[in-house]
Amino acid sequence: MRTSLVAANWKMHGTQAFARQLLADLDKGLASSNCSAQVLICPPFPYLSLVGEAVGGNLALGAQNLSEHASGAYTGEVSAEMLLDCGARYVIVGHSERRSLYGESSQLVAEKYAAAKQSGLIPILCVGESLEQREAGKTLDVVAEQLAAVTELALANPWQDAVIAYEPVWAIGTGKTATPEQAQDVHRFIREQLGEAGAVTQILYGGSVKANNAVELFAQPDIDGALVGGASLKAEEFVSICCAANE
Ligand code: 13P
Repeated sequence: MRTSLVAANWKMHGTQAFARQLLADLDKGLASSNCSAQVLICPPFPYLSLVGEAVGGNLALGAQNLSEHASGAYTGEVSAEMLLDCGARYVIVGHSERRSLYGESSQLVAEKYAAAKQSGLIPILCVGESLEQREAGKTLDVVAEQLAAVTELALANPWQDAVIAYEPVWAIGTGKTATPEQAQDVHRFIREQLGEAGAVTQILYGGSVKANNAVELFAQPDIDGALVGGASLKAEEFVSICCAANE
């Protein structure tokens, strides 16, 4: 049985004061609800420790990116070990914004994934197609290629202690959500690609998840939760999404 996971990707938003207020509101909202989902907060790097102080119980800390290197002369980079030091348990790798805006190839993403796993962090591997790729009927090929980059590294148990997030690029920040059926089709495909580990690996959906579409997405058999961008910056809305994962 897979538990639900709802992850907040704050991206590059907010200030320290905003982060404190959002955390306090989330804390209150989650405490007064009956949410059984695991909740994960992925703040910008400078606020990791601040959020780290608030985690515990069902609330965990994650980062949005990491270096593929363990240490060394890599100005501006952050290692898996440093994230662990700040209390992180998870790290997002291969978000489409990293792939498209910062030129991260599937191979580099796979190296980051491996660095996370080797350190004991749980990677959240983001995969997903652009609108052009979907319209050309290439969705499953794109997702398969993104997953294959990890398998090609020949890690022992590559999908164990890992999370996959299916985030169609055309649904991110656009207000357009994949229909539950579209999402389910890709989630089922991903699960098949993972082999035996697929039965227990959490597969999250991301892309304009809101309080008003979460319940129907979470009702799909292969959707185990969500990776939430914009709506995770509003405490009440995010708590509603977390609670939708119970139903
Ligand atoms: P939105 O929820 O803002 O569409 O962002 C999704 C996302 O990119 C989460 O990683």
